[in-house]
Amino acid sequence: MSPEDVFGIREHEDMGTEDFCELERTPGPCIIVIFGASGDLTYRKLLPSLYNLFTQEGLPERYCVVGVGRTQMNDDAFRAKMRQGVAQAGHGLEHWEAFEACLYYQQLFYDDMESYKVLSSRLAELDRKHQTMGNQIFNLAIPPSVYETVARALGRAGLSREDEEKGNWRRLVVEKPFGYDLESARRLHRAIGVGFKEHQVFRIDHYMTKETVQNILIFRFANAIFEPIWNRNFIDHVRINASESLGVEHRAGYYEKSGVLRDMFQNHMMQLLALVGEEPPSRFSADLVRDKKVELFRSLRPIPLEDLENHLVLGQYTKGEIEGKKVPGYREEDGVDPDSLTPTYALLRVFVDNWRWQGVPFYITSGKRLKWKVTRIDIQFKPVPHSIFRQTIGEDVSADRLIVSVDPKETIFINFQSKKPGTRLCLRTAGLYFSFYRGHEGPRLDAYEKALIDTMLGDQTLFWRQDAVELCWAFLDPVLNCVETSDDRSQRVHAYPAGSLGPQAALDMLPPGSWPEKP
Ligand code: BG6
Repeated sequence: MSPEDVFGIREHEDMGTEDFCELERTPGPCIIVIFGASGDLTYRKLLPSLYNLFTQEGLPERYCVVGVGRTQMNDDAFRAKMRQGVAQAGHGLEHWEAFEACLYYQQLFYDDMESYKVLSSRLAELDRKHQTMGNQIFNLAIPPSVYETVARALGRAGLSREDEEKGNWRRLVVEKPFGYDLESARRLHRAIGVGFKEHQVFRIDHYMTKETVQNILIFRFANAIFEPIWNRNFIDHVRINASESLGVEHRAGYYEKSGVLRDMFQNHMMQLLALVGEEPPSRFSADLVRDKKVELFRSLRPIPLEDLENHLVLGQYTKGEIEGKKVPGYREEDGVDPDSLTPTYALLRVFVDNWRWQGVPFYITSGKRLKWKVTRIDIQFKPVPHSIFRQTIGEDVSADRLIVSVDPKETIFINFQSKKPGTRLCLRTAGLYFSFYRGHEGPRLDAYEKALIDTMLGDQTLFWRQDAVELCWAFLDPVLNCVETSDDRSQRVHAYPAGSLGPQAALDMLPPGSWPEKP
């Protein structure tokens, strides 16, 4: 008998090999209506995702897809164009014929109610043909400036109406930005509310569909060993970072008006903060999980505007070098105002006023054209209360750290102290390492596939709820307002060279031992 049998221990890293999965759920029949069907998002992302789901039998047995856009096109022209998009996305076309048989196009002018009547009868006809039971998803792949118009028109045209007797459903999918500030977010909500109720609205945040981001709640609440130390008694600070090496690319028009705080903080970074900081919900269900996030957002300490420089650092990239390639500064990018003060980097020091987190700073950082693409969360624990090794090794022992890495590595890493082999007593930092996809051979869902599946299933867990959207705007609005209207605005935006680790002022604010080490 081996020691493994005696002690019930296997040496293998993944000791439990059993999977515990949620019960199988299959989406009901439906029509997926994509607004903005002649646009880039549909061509590059949505259609390839739908096709990929189709090839993996992820779509319902009875369904059809209707592209809607201003461009005049017939079904065949639309199919030919989408075929190209799917091929360009790298998918094999062996199932294309079967897929395109359920693909249609309908021209529509966003502000013309007559167009919606035509759409409505086309959908009724396709519903009969494909027996989709009146279930419809309206996916807005259109510029945010027309969200309100389309959402309102869908409501007015009666397309959002669910028939309780027949038990059918109608759902609206919107992607960020959900407004530009609190006021416009509320306005958008009112336009959506003309026809849709909250349970019908699916506000996508692609960070939430990332597997390793979803895993944060599993890690915290499906294990008993982390939660007891997940609080102010053991944690010194938390760092939440999403740095990118890419610049503004072809999106200057949007980015100039938005900047990093609206583009990354109001949504993705706040979601990461919520997942790290929220209390355990009593059940893993959409509203209970989202209630806990809202509770956390309500506990955010307002950023003290009179002491803003100790809580916020903004930056903008100047020209530099990334991976040996020279890249232009933000102000030299196509479509950017040469005097632009739009921040492309921010560090925000946030506190959560509740029992669990009182006094623990959360350093949230995100920026473009930084040295590395890295999305990760560092939980920095406090040092041991008393070091018995101090006299022996002459210095303090390093504190432990837990790193949840989302991008480019999908790992969890725990740093701790260990003895270095040898006759002398030396401590060294060792690591326990878990790789999320190790041993996984099945398909990986991309963000849009996951969002589409959950929308078809009616599962809102990974989508924003309006109260959370508003709380996050309410938290950031005063900061944005203060920065954007202050006389010394130009001094607030610190220059940093592309390819660096960010503005020096931010590096100075970060606690010792935080970056910059290579991820
Ligand atoms: C988007 C932002 O929401 O997220 C982009 O609009 C940003 O500016 C992107 O580049 C980052 O996403 P990811 O998944 O690459 O970290």
